[in-house]
Amino acid sequence: MQLASRIMVTLTAAAVVACDHATSTTPDEKISLDPALVAQGRDVFRFNTFEDERFWTDTARMHEVVQAAVSPATALAVGLKVDIDTIPQAVRDAIAGGKVDLTSPATTVTLLKLGAVVGLKGTVQTVNGRDTLVRLGITCALCHSTVDNSFAPGIGHRLDGYPNHDLNVGAIVALSPAIPAALKAILNSWGRGKYDPRTNFDGKNLPAVIPPAYGLSGVRREIYTGDDTVSYWNAYVAVTQMHGQGSFRDSRLNINITKSPDVVTPLLPALLAYQLSLAAPKPLAGTFDATAAARGKALFDGTARCSSCHAGDLFTDVNQGILHSPAEVGQNPAYALRSVTGKYRTTPLRALFQHAPYFHDGSAATLAAVVDHYDQLFALHLTAQQKADLIEYLKSL
Ligand code: HEC
Ligand code: HEC
Repeated sequence: MQLASRIMVTLTAAAVVACDHATSTTPDEKISLDPALVAQGRDVFRFNTFEDERFWTDTARMHEVVQAAVSPATALAVGLKVDIDTIPQAVRDAIAGGKVDLTSPATTVTLLKLGAVVGLKGTVQTVNGRDTLVRLGITCALCHSTVDNSFAPGIGHRLDGYPNHDLNVGAIVALSPAIPAALKAILNSWGRGKYDPRTNFDGKNLPAVIPPAYGLSGVRREIYTGDDTVSYWNAYVAVTQMHGQGSFRDSRLNINITKSPDVVTPLLPALLAYQLSLAAPKPLAGTFDATAAARGKALFDGTARCSSCHAGDLFTDVNQGILHSPAEVGQNPAYALRSVTGKYRTTPLRALFQHAPYFHDGSAATLAAVVDHYDQLFALHLTAQQKADLIEYLKSL
């Protein structure tokens, strides 16, 4: 019955944590966002670690790993991104001229000192006359931002909200000397663009594809399983995954973490405003065939019955309180069974061209695989031409 109740809350996201109820929703309609709150939220999203250095530095000792062994070449190879806008022109010229040693961990420390590594926040001090990384923490941007590669592969302007599907989170975390061997094996098995936000509670190994954090304005329930609101999930991740200094409580999952002072909860409204301000990118003209896409739209709404679930402007029925059993949509139930709902939310389709693979576990590598999945599941008997048209339409969203 949780989904049927329609208690509207304001943007006081603190309620999510403080009241421990399952009924809060983000407003249905597009809200008008306060620019100052959005700007504050952008800073939080990009740079705020919620003091998670207490974990990533004091416990996991990631600062030592980076200082000793992670060159920029290694960092880029595991999918970390570099924000060119923080790098002074002289340094840019030196990089472009091949005069910067990208195989030296000391260069990574310099990049961290400049605040140039997306999603990582380092504190660098001079120790014995040498730049030394003394604190390291992570931010939301680690997984939910990338760059446009305008300077070089992995180096460019930030693209917030874009999931980083080059990032091998598991391999990075597994570098920590504090991680036991069994967990290291799990972390090293995930691969790029995936993360399991529940392993630390149930010990299972079912990583999910990192989803976009853009195009969520108006969507009432977030994550693949439709558990709750943006702010609910932000608090969950900040406290239970990033190990930020904050409180999170959900009796449905038997989680009750209290840390005082709580630096997460007061930042949730700004963080929410920023996420809601992130529009999904539009595909460039010429990247799809518009005539075929128009035929594909007719199929989407007609013969292929996609819009029976991917309904309305947001391409989801979740705002009507509908979720789907794994069997109904032909998905593996294992991931859903660990969530609050046990079901899957019809994913709001947005900028599909940008974030393959598809489905919660990445089981469809391409849009063609998505269409084949439904063709078989619903015995649609689409012709090759119809499938191609449907794919062109999906590329246009
Ligand atoms: C280590 C990688 C990682 C970090 C760091 C991270 N996330 Fe996520 N995020 C994920 C994954 C994986 C999911 C999918 C979980 C699911 O659906 O069950 C997710 C889901 C989401 C969603 C839901 C999107 C949708 O379409 O349902 C939002 C919004 C989001 N994250 C925002 C944030 C914010 C804000 C932060 C910082 C507080 C953050 N994330 C930190 C990996 C990460
Ligand atoms: C019965 C409801 C239902 C129908 C009908 C349906 N979908 Fe879905 N769709 C879902 C659900 C639920 C998910 C999430 C599944 C998951 O992540 O495992 C999803 C996920 C997707 C995704 C992946 C989005 C992403 O970002 O990962 C695409 C693409 C998609 N559907 C396209 C279609 C197309 C095309 C059709 C018609 C051929 C269709 N769907 C029919 C419910 C439906």
